[in-house]
Amino acid sequence: MTGLADLAGVGVDRRGGFTRHGFSGVDLELRQWFAEEARRRGLDVETDRNGNMWAWWGPPGESAVVTGSHLDSVPGGGAFDGPLGVVAALQAVDLLQGRGFTPVKPFAVVVFVEEEGGRFGSGCLGSRLLTGALDADAARRLTDPDGVSLAEAARAAGVDPTRLGRDGDALRRIGVFVELHVEQGRGLVDLGAPVGVASSILAHGRWRFRFTGEGNHAGATLMGDRRDPMLAAAATVLAARRAAVDNTRATIGRLIPTPGGTNVIPSRVDLWLDARAHDTRRTRDLVAAIAEAAGRAAADEGCAVEVTEEYYGDPVTFDAGLRDRLVDTLGGVPVLPTGAGHDAGVLAAHVPTAMLFVRNPTGVSHAPEEFAEEADCAEGARALADVLAELAR
Ligand code: GLV
Ligand code: MN
Ligand code: MN
Repeated sequence: MTGLADLAGVGVDRRGGFTRHGFSGVDLELRQWFAEEARRRGLDVETDRNGNMWAWWGPPGESAVVTGSHLDSVPGGGAFDGPLGVVAALQAVDLLQGRGFTPVKPFAVVVFVEEEGGRFGSGCLGSRLLTGALDADAARRLTDPDGVSLAEAARAAGVDPTRLGRDGDALRRIGVFVELHVEQGRGLVDLGAPVGVASSILAHGRWRFRFTGEGNHAGATLMGDRRDPMLAAAATVLAARRAAVDNTRATIGRLIPTPGGTNVIPSRVDLWLDARAHDTRRTRDLVAAIAEAAGRAAADEGCAVEVTEEYYGDPVTFDAGLRDRLVDTLGGVPVLPTGAGHDAGVLAAHVPTAMLFVRNPTGVSHAPEEFAEEADCAEGARALADVLAELAR
């Protein structure tokens, strides 16, 4: 049976975990793997205008039952975030085919492109382009750390960048979407349950702070003569920690000095802030407080700062009727919220959408320690099969 072990050698990061970015060579390997696995089950594979892959069981059509997830990862990510939902979808097809089930409704497994935004900075690229939440021109202009534009990367991966953008046909084909995902926390561990259903997603976004100062010599420049943007960035890191109170979250996981030399005062520092809260107002207040502190710190150091919003996702409450139907089908499994973003969250603004979570004993995610026991993954695939059978009959 197809499993995560199939992917264990793909995109291995020497620093630990996996680095699998959208439209990269590694992504092409993953896409090829998915196409082969789907075809092996008699599914018809197609790629949409935005590079998302669809595997149809039976003829494609409107209002389909759709399941799947993503295959890309954060830099140095775990094995489960994304691929588990794709593998479980294929396993669910195996289980249903084994039961002699044939979907009455159109049925597809989808792989969304670049969910993590690990390469181009902006998350849920495939689903946000498809739904029109992300403007195609803005997407084409995104660049990766090597200066390669999304348009160039898409073209190199065989996706015509001029056709990126809102895809009404693809959207109409989704009647309901169910994404299975490893839990990113210890909610199910504490509840002693292998599988749960999602209730909500926090509001979240990414902001780029560009601090500019004066590049100069580390030895020859007196401390009082410096305009060092690293100091303003460092003050902003601490300000973010202080501002994130009342269950809001602020993270700086990416800070890039230019040019980046031990004996060089940087001329520029780019700092990426990930901010999350229960609603838009609290998220925006949090970012405003951090931006104000950044402005003060930059002025103190004789530097300038410019803040750009790179991505924002509204808070999500998943469709209550669908959520309850899943809980009933699965015999009363727990319902729990998440602080992580998902393509399911993007689609939830357009179609009834639900998520299943699989217990993660470490509670860790976006790191190599992310984990789920094989038995729990199998339980998740069974639960997904039961849910899909109920929805597609
Ligand atoms: C994706 O996993 C995110 O929450 O950023
Ligand atoms: Mn993730
Ligand atoms: Mn994910």
